[in-house]
Amino acid sequence: MLDYQRLQQQLIACDQPDWAAELPAELDEILSTNKNSRMPEWAATLASLEDFNTTSIDLKLDSIRLGYSEELPADQQQQLAQILHALHPWRKGPFNIMGIEVDTEWRSDWKWQRLEHSLGDLSDLNLLDVGCGSGYHVLRMLGAGAKSVIGIEPTLLYVAQFLALQHFARQAQAVVLPYTLEALGERVAPFDLVFSMGVLYHRRSPLDHLLKLRELTESDGRLLLETLVVEDQELLVPKGRYAQMRNVWFIPSTDQLIQWLERCGFKDCEVIDVSTTSIEEQRSTDWMTFDSLEQFLDPSDHNKTIEGYPAPSRAIILANAT
Ligand SMILES: C[S@@+](CC[C@H](N)C(=O)[O-])C[C@H]1O[C@@H](n2cnc3c(N)ncnc32)[C@H](O)[C@@H]1O
Repeated sequence: MLDYQRLQQQLIACDQPDWAAELPAELDEILSTNKNSRMPEWAATLASLEDFNTTSIDLKLDSIRLGYSEELPADQQQQLAQILHALHPWRKGPFNIMGIEVDTEWRSDWKWQRLEHSLGDLSDLNLLDVGCGSGYHVLRMLGAGAKSVIGIEPTLLYVAQFLALQHFARQAQAVVLPYTLEALGERVAPFDLVFSMGVLYHRRSPLDHLLKLRELTESDGRLLLETLVVEDQELLVPKGRYAQMRNVWFIPSTDQLIQWLERCGFKDCEVIDVSTTSIEEQRSTDWMTFDSLEQFLDPSDHNKTIEGYPAPSRAIILANAT
């Protein structure tokens, strides 16, 4: 599924020659421990994508456009839709791929709209997106003018989804690799702007996550952090599941989060946005047919999760490295 040589070339194009040199050995190691039994199936799905001639790519649109429907005869469109459906569940998007509207679980464009105006000029900047899912924001960052964007994503299905998108997008300056943040080696050169969105609350050691993000941020670089927050208490540590998720560990108040950031080597923390996630932003669709947020909230009171905790609210903070 992963073409090491091509990924190495892309890392070099993203100003990461030392990482590129280490890549084959590191990927061997990662794939030997992350043996998803569906890998061969996804590899076959990707291999069945034909060489489409996509002339119109628009990474600035809310529904990222990769080709026009007119570029593909109707019977092939159905075939392509089937191939893409084989990579279910599609969580982060949306995308329009040669006329096929991939209506993902999340309206990831809404998150992008909340933050894009705060980023400033991205040209000449190398970006890292930690926990990038399908790579929707990776492509939006490139569309917004970034020099290069590297996404890391340990869930191999989402890496496969990005590879499917890249089949049409063909962006040399965008790459998604199957790493966790913790697995990034010392040879990785620091980035001008690091994104960690929707990852911190999944970490058992959130301060270690922030310290690692700091390590990967240039000394004059910035961090864009997005995570769940609570309003009426300093810190929520769910007793069991939170909105049905088993792996939610720490949900701080925004003030507490800023304190954590300052302890971990960031300053000038600016709260760009705090929004409650609505059932219009995260929902089941034809491309993600499992339960979604509506089923995870108290049916009689959408201000609470099904477990009785405050419903998901997320803060976006932009900070400078110290
Ligand atoms: C809630 S999703 C957020 C996706 C995207 N960043 C967004 O904001 O829409 C969290 C993602 O982080 C990934 N993830 C979980 N643990 C991680 C880790 N230790 N390092 C990097 N990514 C991780 C998950 O596989 C998942 O795709």
